[in-house]
Formats: sequence, structure tokens, C-alpha cells
Amino acid sequence: MFSLKNKKAVITGGGSGIGKAISLLFAKQGAEVHIVELTQESAQSAVDEINALGGKVVSHACNVSNQQEVTATFEKIGAFNILVNNAGIAHVGKVDTTPEADFDRIMSVNVKGVYNCLFAAVPQLRNAGSGVILNMASIASWVGIPDRFAYSTAKGAVMSMTLSVAKDYINENIRCNSISPARVHTPFVDGFISKNYPDNQAEMFEKLSKSQPIGRMAKPEEVAALALFLCSDEAGFITGCDYPIDGGFIKLNN
Ligand SMILES: NC(=O)c1ccc[n+]([C@@H]2O[C@H](COP(=O)([O-])OP(=O)(O)OC[C@H]3O[C@@H](n4cnc5c(N)ncnc54)[C@H](O)[C@@H]3O)[C@@H](O)[C@H]2O)c1
Repeated sequence: MFSLKNKKAVITGGGSGIGKAISLLFAKQGAEVHIVELTQESAQSAVDEINALGGKVVSHACNVSNQQEVTATFEKIGAFNILVNNAGIAHVGKVDTTPEADFDRIMSVNVKGVYNCLFAAVPQLRNAGSGVILNMASIASWVGIPDRFAYSTAKGAVMSMTLSVAKDYINENIRCNSISPARVHTPFVDGFISKNYPDNQAEMFEKLSKSQPIGRMAKPEEVAALALFLCSDEAGFITGCDYPIDGGFIKLNN
């Protein structure tokens, strides 16, 4: 079960955190993994680890917010079977503390980046005869999270894009789903804690851990396991769905 043998998978932001865990697991399951990352350096540790396991991996330096770069990269990759739209960036702020430049930056990566990859991927999934798309949404797509205006706006769009694409390509053998994690312990979380709460980092880490009723953050490998299921042939009847992986955050926090 859950074999990805003879599948070609494209994973954006596959060099760190959740994307890296997905890249490693998909390679372990037999996929030829294409990591789409801002720079070769950001992809390097994942590439090294996959090579050490004897897996198949290629990295592509590409900014997902630039449509020309994305189109050229996906054309170079050619027909493929799986797209994981994972690249994303964080932002802390309420609407009145989110400057326009920050709003535009979050939209350009977390929304336009996903659109660019969907735009470039559909022809290649068609060429492969069938395909699976998995978008990285967030619990912020579902519930109000304090101080995350731009991020929540963007992740709401990711969930809507998932439904739209699932509906439009259902007759072309293309499935599209999303995952909504609560906090996952990755450089993304460490980065925004050190940037936004420099004076009380340990306290903030503890608070963010406890905000999941289960009492901790998720591990990237736990998100990767769900991604593997949704991208495998065993999930062939699943499309147009979002899967929270949240330690009870959405339904048990009351
Ligand atoms: N960590 C969490 O708590 C959490 C929770 C919910 C959702 N998510 C989402 O999961 C995804 C991955 O998060 P993570 O925690 O692994 O983050 P991370 O920062 O560890 O990794 C993100 C990767 O995306 C790459 N990236 C960023 N901008 C890019 C761009 N413009 N073009 C190409 N690559 C780019 C980065 O280089 C990095 O390697 C994001 O979409 C994030 O919003 C994370």
C-alpha cells in the first residue's frame, strides 16, 4: 500500500519543514521527486538526504510567485503525476497592523504562488493521463486565529482554490485536496517566534504548543504521512476535501 513507484512528484518548498518531510517520504515510497525551491541551497539538505537513501530527486531553483519561472520549470519537468503546493510564508498582524507591502508579499507567495503552480501543472497532469494535487492550507482557513490577518486571508483562498480545481478537472482524472495543519514544529514556526517575540521565545513556544488540545505541535513527518495517503492510489475516491491535522484545534478548543 501507498507505493509511489513510477510516479513523478513535484513538491514546492520541499527543502524545509513539512515540504522536506513530504519529499523524503515520497522518495522513500519510490517517487521521482522534483523539489521546487527558491534557491538550490534551500533544497540542498533534502536533496542530500534523499540521495543518501538511494532515492530519485532533482531540485529546481524557482520562485513560485513568478509565473514565467514556474512555467519554465514545469515545462522542463514535463508530464508528472503529483503536485504538492506547499511553499508558503508566515506573517503576524491584525488588519490595521498589516502594511500593504506585507499583504502583497503574503498574497504573492501564498495565493499567486499556488495559482502559478496550478496553472503550469494542469497541462502536465493531463499529459500524464491523471493526476493528484495537494494544497497546504491551514487551520487559519477554518477558524479565526489572532494576529494572522493576511495569512488567514491567503489560506482561505487556498481552500477555495482546492474546491474550484477539484470541480473543474474531476472529469479529467485529476483529484485535488488540501491539508489544514495546526502548528507544526518547523523553521517556519521558529522563524516567526524569533522575529515577532524575541524577548519571550520559550514562553511563546509553550503557548503555541498548548494551543493544540493534544498539548504539542505536530511533527512534519505526521503531516507527510497524511500527504502520502492523499496522493496515493489508495485515496482514489477522495477529491474536493480538506483534511485538518490539528491535535483537536478546530473542534476541541472550547
Ligand atoms: N509550520 C506550521 O505550523 C504550519 C501550519 C499550517 C500550515 N503551514 C503551511 O505549510 C507550508 C510549509 O510550512 P513549513 O512550516 O514547512 O515552512 P518552512 O519555512 O519550514 O518551509 C517553507 C519552504 O518554502 C520555501 N519557499 C518560501 N517561499 C518560496 C517561494 N516564493 N518560492 C519557492 N519556495 C519558497 C522556503 O524556501 C522553505 O524551504 C506553508 O504553506 C505553511 O503556510 C505550516
